[in-house]
Amino acid sequence: MDDFIFNAADESQTARLGVALARVLPPGSVVSLCGTLGAGKTRLVQAVARACGVEPRAVTSPTFVLIQEYQGHRPVYHLDAYRVRDEDEFDELGPEEYFEGDGITLVEWADRVEPCLPRDRLDVRIEVTGTDARRFAFRVLGNLDPTILDRLVGEIRS
Ligand SMILES: Nc1ncnc2c1ncn2[C@@H]1O[C@H](COP(=O)(O)OP(=O)(O)OP(=O)(O)O)[C@@H](O)[C@H]1O
Ligand SMILES: [Mg+2]
Repeated sequence: MDDFIFNAADESQTARLGVALARVLPPGSVVSLCGTLGAGKTRLVQAVARACGVEPRAVTSPTFVLIQEYQGHRPVYHLDAYRVRDEDEFDELGPEEYFEGDGITLVEWADRVEPCLPRDRLDVRIEVTGTDARRFAFRVLGNLDPTILDRLVGEIRS
């Protein structure tokens, strides 16, 4: 499958998308999130985290903490590259440890640190298409199992 496009009409649909995503991502998955301020990156992470048994209020856009670990029934690692100065500073945070772990790792502002990310990952681009409308474009990169997107479609429709 090429890009999978999901148009969320409102926040509740973004939340459903996040739950569906959590169901299809295998342990050790890395998700790169790109989109402007307020696009909905953190909202999507919140929904994934909730589906993994994490209290969604624990999930915020990190201000000073650039990496947050949430322990649900599956670990969720939330990285945010917005405030990192450059790629070196990001690498110094030790992201490999998370990429290689068994949790789901989601990286906000992934475009800022693209060379530091694993090649095999799910890339998500979010566009603001209306006050409450958001367009999510999903793309499988590298050797990530491409059937993830087919299963994501199945989960959303179920
Ligand atoms: N369909 C939607 N999906 C997600 N968020 C939505 C939607 N409609 C409206 N919103 C609003 O858009 C904002 C998204 O905020 P969020 O913190 O998720 O953005 P972000 O991409 O993480 O931004 P930042 O780059 O500042 O971290 C929230 O205020 C939310 O209420
Ligand atoms: Mg955010």
